[in-house]
Amino acid sequence: MEKKDFIYEGKAKKVFTTDDPSLCLIEYKNSLTAFNALKKDSIEGKGRLNNLISSALFEYLRKEGIPTHFVERLDDLRQLVKKVTIVPIEVVVRNITTGTLCKRLGVEEGLRLPRPLVELYLKDDSLGDPIITEDHALLFGWATEGQLIRIKEITLKVNSLLTSLFSELGIILVDFKLEFGLDDKGNLLLADEISPDTCRFWDEQTKNRLDKDRFRKDLGDVLGAYEEIWRRLSSREARA
Ligand code: TMP
Ligand code: ASP
Repeated sequence: MEKKDFIYEGKAKKVFTTDDPSLCLIEYKNSLTAFNALKKDSIEGKGRLNNLISSALFEYLRKEGIPTHFVERLDDLRQLVKKVTIVPIEVVVRNITTGTLCKRLGVEEGLRLPRPLVELYLKDDSLGDPIITEDHALLFGWATEGQLIRIKEITLKVNSLLTSLFSELGIILVDFKLEFGLDDKGNLLLADEISPDTCRFWDEQTKNRLDKDRFRKDLGDVLGAYEEIWRRLSSREARA
């Protein structure tokens, strides 16, 4: 499947059309941004690792019955996905308090929540992805009631599947962000990527950060952390 026309460039990926109008090609970039792109860098090898990690996670979720846009990984940097219209909502799930939750509400960092917290953010970089309620999404037409129910249901299922997968690898899934899309028949599919750019991973033993917080907080060895996630995931794949 060859890429044809360029459609869109985001902060971490480029999207192209293919010969098949129902499929798109996603190319992972090495660029890394944080704080609504106020902080930027490029790390050789990051795009490849996110493509490998995200492809493996989407394959796992698909096998477990989650409807996704993922078709196949093509090579180190590219994957084939179903063409979707992205729902303009970023869905964040938190198992442990950290990040903007602590900043916004002044709650203590590192607390395990009694159940997963699901938050909605409007996907709009020019506004800095503001947090919204379900009512905002409904009243402004960003999603229907049925879609929101389904989004929450899939999100919680993904959280429990990924939490147990990472727990097997000695990693705590602290929080993460999901995006959804609609195919031409209106089916809701899990889309975008799931990678150390979009998740927080803490080593269970050392509590070392194995995700983009290494970049956000200048902790050093960003690539090493992403490599470690891939090393553990791929060793599980090899055993499976
Ligand atoms: P936050 O604590 O900065 O709000 O982030 C919560 C989780 O969502 C964290 O795992 C990082 C992820 N995230 C993204 O993937 N993209 C974003 O634009 C933001 C703000 C968070
Ligand atoms: N992904 C967002 C950005 O590029 C925010 C973040 O992940 O910190 O700015």
